[in-house]
Amino acid sequence: MRRTVIAGNWKMYKDVLESTQLVEDIRKQESSIPSNVTAIVCPPFTSLAILGNMLKGSTIKLGAQNMSEHDEGAYTGEVSWKMLKSANTEYVILGHSERRQYFKETNELINLKVKKALDNGLKPIVCVGERLNEREQGITDPIVKTQVKGVLAGLKSQDIERTIIAYEPVWAIGTGKTATPQQAQDVHKMIRKLVAQLYDWSVADRLVIQYGGSVKPENARELLSQPDIDGALVGGASLKADGFLQVIHAGKN
Ligand code: PGA
Repeated sequence: MRRTVIAGNWKMYKDVLESTQLVEDIRKQESSIPSNVTAIVCPPFTSLAILGNMLKGSTIKLGAQNMSEHDEGAYTGEVSWKMLKSANTEYVILGHSERRQYFKETNELINLKVKKALDNGLKPIVCVGERLNEREQGITDPIVKTQVKGVLAGLKSQDIERTIIAYEPVWAIGTGKTATPQQAQDVHKMIRKLVAQLYDWSVADRLVIQYGGSVKPENARELLSQPDIDGALVGGASLKADGFLQVIHAGKN
């Protein structure tokens, strides 16, 4: 049985004070988090260290939103795996569509980051998803397949076990337009089958595949009840404790 993994991607919202306030508010209801759900918060870099301290001993996990493909060096503005780990970060979102679109990240670069994260004990949440014009042209499957193969290239079965894939159709992110549960389920099933072809079914059956794109309390339960949807990557609705907790509760078995 796969766990349900609900991650809040705060994007470029919440300064240090606001971040601590939000985590305090979430923690007030921490005991209500269903036992089959792993909850993760992914604040901006500036809040990681303080939240890493606050979340010691908590069931709520900490994730970053990006990471350098390098170990260290003269890379102004970059943040390394070692820095993330020193802040008690366990997860890292890689290849988010906003990174692909605004920062020109490619499947090759994302693959380097995924390997770097896994080699150093961080669990990557790797994002894939088609744009609106690609869906309209009926090429969602080949686009997503190319992304999945690209970002997972060279990984071993043991690596996949520590990797989460987030399917986020770009047209559904921050737009209020959600993929229908069936549209999302179809792509998730396709991704799982592809992973079974690349590895085997026991690896594919254990892979957690999150859905992301305008997930909110109103639509979370139906999305999460699909057989191949194992969690959610939540943007806007994760910025308030109540909304995030409602999505978490929707993941109860
Ligand atoms: P959204 O963002 O929930 O605000 O659409 C999701 C994401 O980009 O991860």
